[in-house]
Formats: sequence, C-alpha cells, structure tokens
Amino acid sequence: MLRGRKVVLGVGGSVAAYKSAALARELVRRGCAVRTMLTAAAQHFVTPALFAALTGEAAATALFPVRQGDATPPPTDHVAWAAWAEAAVIAPATADLLGRMAGGLADDLLTTWLLAFPGPVVAAPAMNRHMWSHPAVQRNVARLRADGVRVLQPGFGALAAGEGEGWGRLPDAADVVSALEDVFAAGPPRPRPELPPPCPPLLRERAVVVTAGPTREPIDPVRFISNPSSGRMGYAFAEAARDMGGRVLLVSGPVALPPPAGVDVVSVTTALQMRDAVLAAAPTADLVVFAAAVADSRPAEPSATKLKKGQALEGTLSLVRNPDISAEVGAMGGRRVLVGFAAEAGAGVEEAERKLRAKGLQLVAFNDVREAGAGFGAETNRVVLVDRDGGREEIGPASKRAVAERILARAATLLP
Ligand code: C5P
Repeated sequence: MLRGRKVVLGVGGSVAAYKSAALARELVRRGCAVRTMLTAAAQHFVTPALFAALTGEAAATALFPVRQGDATPPPTDHVAWAAWAEAAVIAPATADLLGRMAGGLADDLLTTWLLAFPGPVVAAPAMNRHMWSHPAVQRNVARLRADGVRVLQPGFGALAAGEGEGWGRLPDAADVVSALEDVFAAGPPRPRPELPPPCPPLLRERAVVVTAGPTREPIDPVRFISNPSSGRMGYAFAEAARDMGGRVLLVSGPVALPPPAGVDVVSVTTALQMRDAVLAAAPTADLVVFAAAVADSRPAEPSATKLKKGQALEGTLSLVRNPDISAEVGAMGGRRVLVGFAAEAGAGVEEAERKLRAKGLQLVAFNDVREAGAGFGAETNRVVLVDRDGGREEIGPASKRAVAERILARAATLLP
C-alpha cells in the first residue's frame, strides 16, 4: 500500500521527536520515499542529519537563506516540495504546531509548506496530558479535523519523566502507518475548490431584485401546473450581484437550492405571489433580473378540495392568463435597468428582440432550451444577449455563474 508513496514527515519539538526517527525508518522499510521537515523546536531534540541518514532524502529546516557561514541546510522550496508529496505525517504534532496549523499560520517552513500542500495530512499529537486536555488544544484539534486533517488520538501511558501516566503519548508507529494506509486507500483527495476571482464591485450599494425558479399554479390542493426550472440561473444572478456589491432581494419560486448567504430571499409559490413581491420591491430597485420561469397561465378556479378521478381532472381545465411581471415593471417607467430572458425552443434571436421591446426591458438573454448545456436544469448556459440598439453578444457556453456575471457587468454599464 505504501510502496513508492512520497511522504513528507513533519517533526515538531517534543521529547517524542526521537520516536519519529523510528517512524521514518518504518515508512522507508515499507517503501515510502520520505522527506523530513523539522521545526526549530524539533532541533532541540533531533537533527536533520539523523533523518537524512535514515531516509536517504533531504531534511529541511529553513524557509529563508541563512547568514553566510551558518551550518544550517539551504532554504527549501516549499512549493516544489508540495508538488512532490502525496501525503504528510506530522509526528510529533505538538500543542504549538497544532495551534499554528489550526490558525492557518505560516511562520516557519513546515507550516508554510502545509498551507501550500493540498493533499492529505495525518497528525500524531504528543504532549503533556494537561496540555492535551486544555480547551484551547481541543478547540484546535476540532478545527483541524473539520478542515480534513486526520488528527490521531494520542496514546495512554507513561509520559516524559516525572509527568506520570495519562493521555498524551505519541501514537505508536503502527497506528500512524495504518492511518496513512487509510489515507491512500481512500484514493486521491478531492481537489480543494479554487475560489472564484473577486468580482469587480460594479453594483456597489445598488438595489438588485432577481426572480428565480418556476411558479406553481394550483389545480387543487395536491396538483399544480409548473415547469422544470431549477432556479440555478436566478440563484447564480443573486450570488453574482451580491459579490459585485449589490443589495440583493431574491424572489424565488419553489426550488431545491439553499438560500444564498447575504441575500434577502422571499419565497413564493404562484405567479401572483411573485408579482406582488416584485412590484413591492421594484420602485426602489436599480436593477431587476427576471430569471424566473413564470407559468403563463393558471387554473381559473382552483378547487379547494382534492379533485376525485372523473371530476374536472378528466374534463377541460379552464385556464386564465397570468400577469407578465416583467412587462408590468417595464411599464412603470423610471431609469431602472431591466433584464429578461427569452427561453425559446426553436424561435430565433428575433423573438428575444421582440420581447425586449414589448416588455420595455433593456437587455434580454436569448437561449435555446433544446440545446445541450443550455437552459432548464443544466449547470451551464449559452445565451445571446440582445440590447436596445440591436447589439447581440454571445455569452458562453459557460457556468451559469459566469453567464450571470457577464450579463450583470453589461447591465451595470446601463445604470444611471
Ligand atoms: O415567458 P416569456 O418568454 O415571455 O418570458 C420572458 C421574460 O419575462 C423572462 O425574463 C421571464 O422571467 C419574464 N416573465 C415574467 N412574468 C411572466 C412571464 C415571463 O416576468 N408572467
């Protein structure tokens, strides 16, 4: 399991550091390539030369070049080491080292390297039993575990001279090895998501209203007319507008998405409810994005009780037209910027241009919902953004978030 694996062994400053020499040996015996990093405190107990001799690999201590004539090893390229390693074992993980790791500090080579290393980390604590049970240490351990670090339970037994018995002994090498085997058995770690680049604050302090998701139009208490809108496009708009500095109100039909943080959400079910929420917010809005798939019509007389088979269900369902929310806001006039969608199946971009004028919108994003990777439920979208001057801008295929950002950036240029 461990043959050929590349492991960095991080050694902290504890009496138990001498045991990590045996651990290094055991890892080598099992076929690992082991490079060692020692903290400054570790070097009070053990030396880089010891580990270099045991592993046949460099042992590193310094992040920066040291003064000429100094006997310490040359500086280590922590980024190159991070690319080399497949796993890290921190043994002994002292209270200080755990605290610095939990705090995300990078004040020496080992902690700097750990931040640059995206792979799995096993930490084997060793310390005085009172230190281990200190709330601060336990808080750091909980933090590290939540971050995905495998912090092993220290062993029970005789501690350093004069400390008696207790929890705090460095876990046995066999336990560390088996934790490392588990790590490799679990397969490659999930890559940490790269954070999106920060959005320019183009909507700083602007009031943005976004509609999202489908609406449901009740036939009776257990049946409704709706459509397969997932709400993803609207939620992507809400999050992007928030990240661009906007104060966002999301008027959402029923969807399975969690409410985005930092966004006010009004949950609605029917088109009439969505209309009420939007009309209440629109007068003070700078920008409104109509990303909802509003049901065009609703049953004229929804039944208050569940319809039985053979009742109206098999007859003709009489429908009435829902108000067009975007057109109503368009008719309000004012200088706010209105962005709509034209999700079409077969119609051309001209249909989007027609809707733009008919509804009084500034921008309309046309998409062909029959295309793979566009429209309902998809993760991505491809749209043609039409404007009042006959301009057509192709956006995507790209994530709905990226499409939203681009459309919002265009809308921001139209704000007064
Ligand atoms: O359904 P239609 O293709 O006309 O929708 C185009 C745009 O109008 C979309 O942005 C949609 O959110 C909006 N709309 C609305 N209220 C409706 C119907 C559509 O706001 N009742």
